[in-house]
This record gives sequence, structure tokens and C-alpha cells, in this order.
Amino acid sequence: MKVTVVGAGAVGASCAEYIAMKDFAAEVVVLDIKEGFAEGKAMDLMQTASLNGFDTKIVGSTNDYSKTANSDVAVITSGIPRKPGMTREELISTNAGIVKTVAENLIKESPNVIIIVVSNPMDTMTYLAHKATGLPKNRIIGMGGALDSARFKYRLAEATEAPISDIDGMVIGGHSDTGMIPLTRLATRNSIPVSSLISAEQMEEVKQETKVGGATLTKLLGTSAWYAPGAAVASMVHAIATDSHKMFPSSCMLDGEYGLSDICIGVPAIIGANGVEKIVEIELSEDEKAELQASADAVHKTNALL
Ligand code: 2OP
Repeated sequence: MKVTVVGAGAVGASCAEYIAMKDFAAEVVVLDIKEGFAEGKAMDLMQTASLNGFDTKIVGSTNDYSKTANSDVAVITSGIPRKPGMTREELISTNAGIVKTVAENLIKESPNVIIIVVSNPMDTMTYLAHKATGLPKNRIIGMGGALDSARFKYRLAEATEAPISDIDGMVIGGHSDTGMIPLTRLATRNSIPVSSLISAEQMEEVKQETKVGGATLTKLLGTSAWYAPGAAVASMVHAIATDSHKMFPSSCMLDGEYGLSDICIGVPAIIGANGVEKIVEIELSEDEKAELQASADAVHKTNALL
């Protein structure tokens, strides 16, 4: 498998690193517009190969899309990250033009590519990539829910004092501080509802901390996070490469699912060789349905700014 990662910043480099560490891809091409930057990151990562035990070839390029030709998967991380105090939505004016150009350039070289969008505001950038390329809807996936669910599981594990591998949980909805919907009702530890293990107040705290998970890190780091976003992307690329049919909440183009249309927003999706193999419609409570509708209304509002 050949994977392209556009953007050699912290998120892009982490994606490339984690994909290489899983050692399933023949080649990862990292592209950046800053002269020599992607080449430098690729060389540094390649010098970890003998130490970390992978054979994936990592190639860097300064914006030469011919190097990306015939990629099976491309990850778009380009654009600016948010600074402390900013919302993801505030990045739209800078990032929309960049994501549109990148998506168009990618499909010229790789007509069969599956695109994973990471750039923020992610749900709107995923929607834009669909509109700019006209690719079938299974072939463009927004990465948000995989990351937000990982953050949810981290908080659930803390609250229950359990190892994370005992925990299951999922976040759907928009990838924004207000739009995320951690499904607290369905979170479990070893099949036991977490709601029976911690108080309602503790669960509410877990929910709120999950929703601002990215903002908390942005405040601490001075820029947005990269390890967990990179790892979330690598897990999704791995699911495509191995046709694993693992379920990741992902930003998918909806056509009536969950009563929503002409929108990309986080819903449970089966990820395999064709990208989105299936959108899974789970029974939501009335409160969760209302939260999803409010989240979708906010994403529609941001989409209208395109
Ligand atoms: C985050 O939540 C980068 O949006 C990403 O950290």
C-alpha cells in the first residue's frame, strides 16, 4: 500500500511515524509546501527505521504531487492549527482554500485514492473535499470521532480507575467543542455500563472534559495536539489496508442516515478496503437525537461559510 500524507507539521509527521511503526505500508510520501521540510522529516523518520523495526519507505517532497501518484490512501493535514482560545471553526477562511487545492491535486495523481481529512474545521473540510472532488462518498472520510473516542476512553479509564483496555466508548457528532456527543449511556468497562460504576456528576465531568479535549491540549501546548490525532489516522489507514471492517466514528457524507442529508458529521462507520463500507445507524435516545440535531445545525452553519 502507498499512503500520502499532505502536511509535514506535527500531525502529519505523527501520522507518517505511526503508519510506519505499524509496518503495513510499502511507502509513505510526506508532502509540504515549506522547502525541504518534508524531506527533512522523512529523512529523520527513516533514520528511526532500523531502531524501531519497520521497512516502510518514507519519502519527503516539497509540494511535488507527481511523487504521490497512485496512492491508495491520502491524508490531508494541511492548513493552520488552532492557537489557545480559538475554535476549530475560526480556521475556515485560511484552511478552506488549502484543503480544496490539495484534494484536487491529489485526485489528479491518484484517481482511485481514499482521502482522510484531518484539517479543521474537520467536518466542513470533509464536506468541502467531497464537493471539490466529486468522489464517491465512501472514499472521503473525516477523522474526528476516532480521536474524540480515544479521548473519551482516556477520561472514562481515569474516572473508573481502570486500564484503558477494559474500556469501550464512542463519540459521535461534530468534531467541535460544542458539537461532540460522547455516548455516556453506552460506555462500558468489561461490558458493565460505566454509568453504574461512577456517579452521574462524574460522568458529566467525563463528558465535558472529552468535548474540550482538543482545547485543553491546545492551551497546554500552545498549539493543537498531534500524537493522538496521528495515532487515530494511522488506525484508520491500517483498517483500510487490512480491510479489517473495524468501526470508527467518522465524519461521513450522509444521505438520510440519522435523518440528516448533505452534511459530513461523525457517525459510527465500518472502515475497510473501500473506505466507508457501511454507516451504522444505532438507536439513539431522545436526548442524544436532539444533541445530534443541534450538532448538525452548527456544522451546516459552518458549511454555509464556504
Ligand atoms: C484535535 O482535536 C487536531 O482537531 C484535532 O486535537
